[in-house]
Amino acid sequence: MLKICLQDFDGSCKGSAASGEWGRPIENMAKGRPMLEKKARIAGDAEIVDDAIMSRRSVRAFLPDMVDDHTIRDILTVAARAPSGTNMQPWRVYVAKGGTKQRITDAIMNSGIRAEKADWDEYRYYPTQFFEPYLTRRRANGFGLYGALGIGRREVDKMRAQHDRNFVFFDAPVGMIFTIDRRLNQGSWIDYGMFLQNIMVAARGRGLHTCPQAAFAPYHRQIRPVLDIPDEEIVVCGMALGYEDTSKPENAFRTDRVPLEEWVKFSE
Ligand SMILES: Cc1cc2nc3c(=O)[nH]c(=O)nc-3n(C[C@H](O)[C@H](O)[C@H](O)COP(=O)(O)O)c2cc1C
Repeated sequence: MLKICLQDFDGSCKGSAASGEWGRPIENMAKGRPMLEKKARIAGDAEIVDDAIMSRRSVRAFLPDMVDDHTIRDILTVAARAPSGTNMQPWRVYVAKGGTKQRITDAIMNSGIRAEKADWDEYRYYPTQFFEPYLTRRRANGFGLYGALGIGRREVDKMRAQHDRNFVFFDAPVGMIFTIDRRLNQGSWIDYGMFLQNIMVAARGRGLHTCPQAAFAPYHRQIRPVLDIPDEEIVVCGMALGYEDTSKPENAFRTDRVPLEEWVKFSE
């Protein structure tokens, strides 16, 4: 087994996955990643880490190819290294595949509750009224995605059909539903975001793609009985995990970002 050296920036080895510091050993993490000299290693690490972050995007069409449980466990184990206030680790994950995933889809699609009528009664992801600059950014996102799919601005039925693709996890072989104890506070939701991002980045390290999906949150009543989610937990969101279907037009859509100058202020 490869020994993964968790080197600090001074180059000293602080521990290793093989020695069990992360709990369970993660055998395939260091594949194709030889130990480098300190400087080269730092430069190489920046490239690897930046690549994983920069190549993450929301993929909305997946191949049927299965992701094995070992890989899913590794991704979640790595992701759970996310920081959390006083190490409370507020995440709870329900991994659904095969028949269970299908039952989530069926429960939502047979509910007769259209997404635009669905009640966000557990938490509100979006503001009640959109305002600038967020309204423009949101619109650009919608037009960009529908544009890639050739859906016109008045083709409401096609837009709905595309939105419903959320509920088949965009055909990904793995769907995850994330919950949080409802007694926890906003701080734990910050921690949760870091955990979710870690999953998406760790997935990239393994050639996998993801799409985070708040669309599931208002359907918690349909999802709860399928996954046996207790009332004490709020459904935060879902996530599709799998291999990208590069032949699908929706995956050609790329989002941009506001330039740094517009949201950062340096002071001395
Ligand atoms: C918490 C969260 C929930 C999201 N929910 C959905 C969703 O339900 N359906 C969807 O298609 N995209 C969803 N997205 C993806 C965003 O639309 C996407 O992140 C954004 O447009 C930026 O694009 P990128 O992820 O490709 O960089 C969600 C993103 C986040 C972070």
